Amino acid sequence: MRKKIVAGNWKMNTLPAEGVELAKGVVAGRKEVCECVNFIVCAPFTHLSMVAEALKGSDVELGAQNCAAEAKGAYTGEVSASMIAALGCKYVILGHSERRQYYGETSETLNRKMEQAYANGLTPIYCVGENLEEREAGNHFAVCKQQIEEVVFNLTEEQFKNLVIAYEPVWAIGTGKTATADQAQEIHAYIREVLASKFGAAADECPILYGGSCKPSNAQEIFAKADVDGGLIGGAALKAEDFLGIGKGF
Ligand code: 13P
Repeated sequence: MRKKIVAGNWKMNTLPAEGVELAKGVVAGRKEVCECVNFIVCAPFTHLSMVAEALKGSDVELGAQNCAAEAKGAYTGEVSASMIAALGCKYVILGHSERRQYYGETSETLNRKMEQAYANGLTPIYCVGENLEEREAGNHFAVCKQQIEEVVFNLTEEQFKNLVIAYEPVWAIGTGKTATADQAQEIHAYIREVLASKFGAAADECPILYGGSCKPSNAQEIFAKADVDGGLIGGAALKAEDFLGIGKGF
């Protein structure tokens, strides 16, 4: 049985005190949702230690949204994987389309970030997904395949066992436009096939999350699909009730 995961990507939202309130809200309402759902909140770096404190004693786990490609040293403004691990993070989002698009992250950088994550005991949530132009040209399969081959295929079998994939079509992120459940299933199954071509049966254990305008009203239909193991949630993760409501979609 694959893990069911609902992960919140808060992006650059909330001030520290608001983040703590949000985390407390998630903890408070968590018991109304099946224990089988693993909730993760990925808060901004600045709030990680305060949010870690707010999550203490609950099973809601903490993640960061990025980490540096280097271990330490003269890299002004960067935050290392060891720093976020020391604050209690178990996960780190890597390769989000916003980082690829606005901060020029390439497979080369992402390979080094993945190494740092694993070296510090973190589980990467590795994001893939096509933009609108690529979808309209029918290139979405090729784009996701390449993003996986260039990064995930460099992992060892051991590392691959500790990986979460998030499929996030760029055209669905923050647009209110969701992939249909069938579109999600089609590409999730394809992604799993690509993973299996390298890692064999272990691909059956790898959670593949859907991300892009996921909300309580559409989660159930999407999560019902065989190869969709949960969601990576942006906007709707900023309200505890909506975030938890998505978890009820299982
Ligand atoms: P939205 O849920 O706001 O569309 O964002 C999805 C996302 O990018 C999560 O990483």
